[in-house]
This record gives sequence, structure tokens and C-alpha cells, in this order.
Amino acid sequence: MIDIGIVIGSTRPGRNGENVARWVHDLGAKRDDARFELIDLQEHALPHLDEPLAAASGSYDHPHTREWSERIARFDGFVFVTPEYNRSTSGVLKNAIDFLYAEWADKAAAFVSYGVDGGVRAAEHLRQVLGQLRVATVQAGVALSLHNDFENFADFRPAAHQEDRVTAMLDQLVSWSRALRPLRV
Ligand SMILES: Cc1cc2nc3c(=O)[nH]c(=O)nc-3n(C[C@H](O)[C@H](O)[C@H](O)COP(=O)(O)O)c2cc1C
Repeated sequence: MIDIGIVIGSTRPGRNGENVARWVHDLGAKRDDARFELIDLQEHALPHLDEPLAAASGSYDHPHTREWSERIARFDGFVFVTPEYNRSTSGVLKNAIDFLYAEWADKAAAFVSYGVDGGVRAAEHLRQVLGQLRVATVQAGVALSLHNDFENFADFRPAAHQEDRVTAMLDQLVSWSRALRPLRV
């Protein structure tokens, strides 16, 4: 069985990200080819990066880094649910990614973004970041518009076609997560 972590990329009070991530999780739970688990950055009190050595060293001084490492290491792939903040992803998500290295490598990832224009600039920035970490990012993604998929920019009401986008994305994510398994052994 493939294990997929769904990372909630916002910690803002009143965030839209949690409802979006729960929607993806509910759709994932209907599948029989993978298990899905929410990873909420609010539950991991990571400070601004405070490790003296780069994560590629695999040497971590702080308990919060070791806990974060253990949380991430066991997954085969990830869905990053990202808001668009100032044409990029959130600082809190980038910081959480920067803490680790091998825990992300040789895994697959997909993006569910949201913003005024679907958050696609955030997703594409993340794709670039994850390239450095040897993460294989799938082509299919979900871009949710604050105008069309939310009411009053806050009440999440995804358009009907978005479920098909999630299915296409998860199909690619699960197959690439499985295909990369030999590299992770
Ligand atoms: C600091 C900040 C910067 C933002 N910048 C953008 C932006 O550049 N483009 C955009 O489409 N939306 C932008 N927004 C709107 C957010 O995408 C929107 O508020 C979204 O719901 C934020 O995600 P969250 O509610 O999960 O925190 C910004 C919001 C914040 C708080």
C-alpha cells in the first residue's frame, strides 16, 4: 500500500487551507490504492530554520527537527495544499520543507493550490523548490479559484469539475509514488 501525506501549507487563523486539505483527504479515502493522512503544520511547532548544518547532512541537533523528520520519512508521496502568498507559496511551508532533505527525496508530489488566480504561481514555485530535493512532481494538479470555488473568498464550495481534477492528480501521484519505490529501498 502506498502512503500519501497531505500537507496543509497554511497556519493562518481562519485559513482556507484546512477545508481544502480535508476535501482532498475525503476524496483520497475513497480509493483503494493508497492511504492518505493529513499533515498539519500547526501541529509541528517548527521555528525559523535553526539547524546549524544543512539538511542534506542528515544531522539534526533539535528534537523538533527529529520529530518532523520521523513524521515525513514514512510517506511514499505528498499532496502539497498551498495558498498563494505574494505570488509564491507560504513562508511556513517553505521553511518546513527546508528543514529536511533525504525524507523528501525519491518520492512523488502533487499540488493543490488556491488563490485569486488558482494559486498556480505558488504551485510552480514549489515545483522548482522540490526539484532540488529530488522530488518527482506530477503534471496533473488542482487550481482552486477564490472567485469560483469559494463563496466570499472563505466558504469552500469547489466547482463540480474539480473532483475529476483531484482524481487525475491522485492517479498520477500514486503511480509515480509506487514506481519510485525501488530508489527508496
Ligand atoms: C500575505 C498574503 C499574501 C497574498 N498574496 C496573494 C497573491 O499574491 N495572489 C493571490 O492570488 N492571492 C494572494 N493572497 C490571498 C490568499 O491566496 C488567500 O487569502 C488564501 O485564502 C490564503 O490561504 P489561507 O487562507 O489557507 O491562509 C494573499 C494572502 C495573504 C494573507
